Amino acid sequence: MTDALHQALSAVADPSSGAPLSTSGRIDAIDLKDGVATLVLKPGQEGEDITALRAAVDAALTALAEVERTRVIIETTLARGASKPQPASSQPLAPPARFVVAVASGKGGVGKSTVAANLAAACVKLGLKTGLMDADIYGPSAPRLFGLTEAPGLQKTKAGIEPLEAHGVKLVSMGFLVGERDPVVWRAPMVTGAVRQFLGEVNWGDLDILIIDMPPGTGDVQLAVAQGAPISGVVIVSTPQNLALDDAKKAAALFDRTAIPILGMVENMSFFLCPHCGEPSEIFGRGGARAEAELIGAPFLGEIPLHPELREASDAGHLVAAGEGPVAKAFERAADAMLHQAAIANRPAPDIVFED
Ligand SMILES: Nc1ncnc2c1ncn2[C@@H]1O[C@H](COP(=O)(O)OP(=O)(O)O)[C@@H](O)[C@H]1O
Ligand SMILES: [Mg+2]
Repeated sequence: MTDALHQALSAVADPSSGAPLSTSGRIDAIDLKDGVATLVLKPGQEGEDITALRAAVDAALTALAEVERTRVIIETTLARGASKPQPASSQPLAPPARFVVAVASGKGGVGKSTVAANLAAACVKLGLKTGLMDADIYGPSAPRLFGLTEAPGLQKTKAGIEPLEAHGVKLVSMGFLVGERDPVVWRAPMVTGAVRQFLGEVNWGDLDILIIDMPPGTGDVQLAVAQGAPISGVVIVSTPQNLALDDAKKAAALFDRTAIPILGMVENMSFFLCPHCGEPSEIFGRGGARAEAELIGAPFLGEIPLHPELREASDAGHLVAAGEGPVAKAFERAADAMLHQAAIANRPAPDIVFED
């Protein structure tokens, strides 16, 4: 079937080279699944007309009986007009904020993004100038959490890449570059380049704190962030279940190896807080993360209840922590504890005086 797709694309001219798209060398991947044709293209020349290209590809491919919809993904549009990705070994960048905190987890679905976004909202409430960098290239969720799924994307000005702003938080997300649901093929040097651009070329202004929503696990993004900027420390998010805790330990170990301090652990979905009666019930066995934090010698930063309001709010683009109530309070306490630990981590090591 991909032959037929290639064949159809021979009628589309690559705007960057003028050659037929099928032979221009720009096609990185092409795939058809459930009537959706996905085309991944290498970056083109600066200023190429992507809208026209998408329309031409769409017309050519939907002419095939098997294709209902098309999706055109252009790899790291972020690199457009910006410097080339730097090798991973280059010098760390200047810190983009007074505190730079990475929020990590061992696996997805533990509520890491929800916690990162609400910690950011809690920091705004505490009066801090706050930024959030959504570095989860595999599942960016900041656009949805902040109600910016319709945002036009990121603009580059003389001052740098302009962050968007929502709920008082300055925001960049890989999701503003590629659609939230678009599958993306990222090669390691591109990951490193994109992360470095987000850290070093965004016009963050004068931030007190930059929170980084990391992808789950221990991959290229983790290394790029660890090597790319002076990070104050990492907050590990886990649920009380054992499996999630095992993964959280691995995530913690990676950052330990890169000599980035673990600021502490947040236990998410600690207990069910009934929205009707306000009664807590401990459905997963609350306290697992607290015990785990003690075991790895990390501070425990707080517990966030499982509450339907959190899921509803994230789907609607609201942040619970920006409001009032017990869940907002829980985030405020965790943010306070995180800032306390970040301040300790940021303190310069005492000078050692040698006496003779
Ligand atoms: N404390 C919570 N209470 C209720 N729902 C939650 C809570 N934390 C996260 N969720 C929901 O769980 C799902 C996964 O959360 P998300 O933050 O996207 O996880 P991750 O970033 O770890 O993959 C989302 O639908 C989110 O709204
Ligand atoms: Mg996420």
